[in-house]
Amino acid sequence: MKDEWVQTIREDLPDLSEFLEGIKGIGPIYRGADANYCYCCYMSIRLIEIHRILRNTGSVYLHVDPTMSHYLKLIMDCIFGYKNFRNEIAWKRNAGHGKGNQYTPKKYGALNDTIIFYVKSNNYFFDPYIPLTKKEIDAKFDNVDAQQRRYYTHQIMCNPTMPSRSNLCYTYNGVTNPHPSVWMVSKERLIEMDANGEVLWRDNKLPLRKILLKNYKGNPLSTAWTDIPSTRGKEKLGYPTQKPIALLERIIKASSREGDVVLDPFCGCATACFAAEKLERQWIGIDVSKKAYDYIKKRLRTAPAALNNLWKIEAEVDLGVESPKRTDLGVDHREKKFVYVISNPTFPNVYKVGISKNWKARLNQYQTSDPLRGYQKEFVFETPYYREIEKHIQEKFDNLSEWVQGDLEEIIQAIKNYTP
Ligand SMILES: C[S@@+](CC[C@H](N)C(=O)[O-])C[C@H]1O[C@@H](n2cnc3c(N)ncnc32)[C@H](O)[C@@H]1O
Repeated sequence: MKDEWVQTIREDLPDLSEFLEGIKGIGPIYRGADANYCYCCYMSIRLIEIHRILRNTGSVYLHVDPTMSHYLKLIMDCIFGYKNFRNEIAWKRNAGHGKGNQYTPKKYGALNDTIIFYVKSNNYFFDPYIPLTKKEIDAKFDNVDAQQRRYYTHQIMCNPTMPSRSNLCYTYNGVTNPHPSVWMVSKERLIEMDANGEVLWRDNKLPLRKILLKNYKGNPLSTAWTDIPSTRGKEKLGYPTQKPIALLERIIKASSREGDVVLDPFCGCATACFAAEKLERQWIGIDVSKKAYDYIKKRLRTAPAALNNLWKIEAEVDLGVESPKRTDLGVDHREKKFVYVISNPTFPNVYKVGISKNWKARLNQYQTSDPLRGYQKEFVFETPYYREIEKHIQEKFDNLSEWVQGDLEEIIQAIKNYTP
């Protein structure tokens, strides 16, 4: 684990930093007393970057081990915001009774994995349906109307136990719900449905809604995914943690449109990339392991013809060890942050010199801890050399546990004039 990660989290997400400090010491001793803390820092720093690059309409699916899923949910709450949590999906990866690899006595057989679903804003794309099989269609859409459209019927009036809403109490086409209850749709919507021939008027009976096959997307997905078995048969390449294509296809279909970009930063043998290609999305896969690289090469060579030419023709993978450089920050790819100087009249001649991406939020945090709200900003300076400057100031001026003592002007000049 790198100190830099801990520092970055402390600087940019103090709430997350506090959470991580709080879990120090929890975890299996045989992996080191701080194993969970280290893993969570390692994941946090990556999830912070994922949040940064994700579009406002995008979603994140995090597939995690049940021993860490509860930690990661809290980390995601800190990074994405608890309001952006959407679901915890249980993916039942095995048939049977849970007596496979995971079986140990005196606990329930583990049959499912956890997938945590977060979004970046409420403006996210979502289309979560499983198409019906032909057999299911035949069984469900057992009526044909005068226009030769297949349909099934559903109530269009609420039963008496449903709460009533004033905009749903009305008379239409001479019909008022006989119960002290209501229609299921607004009058405007009902008129529209009727005009489209989606209402079935029956002699002396209450009308029903017609659900037309041509408008039916499939069954809405729930959080229990029991129909996708773990990777098997020809699909199995040998990569130890390979996921089934169907699982990735489901996620990609539900949360993206054709042409959108899918990123898997822990892509293993590139199942997500493979599924994205099949569904005509753009994709990026990242993996740290040489083994993954070997398996991806193998997969590219054996990709079925159904995949489009891009996958087949440009089937070249470069193996690199250099971390990619950020290109979105100008010629100097280094990230910039603010070096700030904060004072408080209660502590004359000492100054807090710190680093933050958002110095206003940081000042606000100081203020809320101070009944007099006496903290004030003296100076802020945006620079890629924030770490070096902080160290330089701590060394140059008397250091009083994270605060420095000295003349304010001198401190400001020392910050401004620093050259690496
Ligand atoms: C659970 S596997 C993913 C399997 C993948 N879904 C598939 O179908 O093959 C997790 C992957 O994360 C990779 N990994 C671990 N640490 C990483 C890191 N720091 N950066 C990128 N990849 C990493 C591992 O090499 C492994 O391939």
